[in-house]
Amino acid sequence: MSLVPMKELLLAAQKGRYAVGAFNCNNMEIVQAIIAAAEAEKSPVVIQASQGAIKYAGIAYITALTKLAAENSSVPVALHLDHGTSFEQCMSCVRNGFTSVMIDGSKHALEDNIALTKKVAEVAHPLGITVEAELGKIGGTEDDIKVEEWDALFTDPDEAAYFSRETQVDALAVAIGTAHGQYKGVPKLDFARLQKIVAKVSTPLVLHGSSGVPSEAIQEAIAIGVAKVNIDTNIREAFVEAARKVLAADAKEIDPRKVLGPAREAATEVIREKIRVFGSSGKA
Ligand code: G3H
Ligand code: 13P
Ligand code: ZN
Repeated sequence: MSLVPMKELLLAAQKGRYAVGAFNCNNMEIVQAIIAAAEAEKSPVVIQASQGAIKYAGIAYITALTKLAAENSSVPVALHLDHGTSFEQCMSCVRNGFTSVMIDGSKHALEDNIALTKKVAEVAHPLGITVEAELGKIGGTEDDIKVEEWDALFTDPDEAAYFSRETQVDALAVAIGTAHGQYKGVPKLDFARLQKIVAKVSTPLVLHGSSGVPSEAIQEAIAIGVAKVNIDTNIREAFVEAARKVLAADAKEIDPRKVLGPAREAATEVIREKIRVFGSSGKA
């Protein structure tokens, strides 16, 4: 199957009340793990690459690996740019065959975020390419933000309605209490806010920073209306821990296949578990 636009997967998820997992890739083994997990679970899947991943692997490799993976796969796969921060980055991905791009204008003022998002959508939409945007600030767990400051960074439901109407985006990332990276404690999601957003916005919603969020909380967010869940950190942890274990058992091991093979298997298992939590098993 060739790569599909992410929008198709999200609309089906929204209708079916499950979420599609969007998993970050940085190398061949992680692409293979994502596909192996999605196939084992008979689930649609989004493979996403950040600017960091693109810089590390090269855009041509990311695209070639993912296209090959999708062509040989029995499940639908979308290739998505994660947290694109400029029009040019998004266009580079469009030219290279991505079927979806995120333009993350969340650090800009509302009207500037709208203008930037619209500019990307005006080019991407006629080409059938999905556009995700972000409203509110999701940030990272390493950001030094005090608890009382968090609320001001969360997505405002009225602004979300205005933003969706103005930009006509296909997916909207919302800030409701998650953050990227490893959590120090247990994150608390603002479900009441999510409910208010869902009541005003029909655009499929995206939960970023979902590694380390308890499964029940993820499932509650999906039940309210989240249609895409992003996972990176939990894959990194499983991948590197498995590689570390091989090297701890034999510090003299020099065969990369013996280090990265178990890492790929561990990543596959984590992704399968996430897919089951998101309820997309059997939806391909
Ligand atoms: O949302 C961020 C993702 O975890 C990607 O992280 O920029 O280190 O590749 P990265
Ligand atoms: P985590 O690394 O916290 O899972 O976040 C992933 C993400 O949101 C990618 O956009
Ligand atoms: Zn993110």
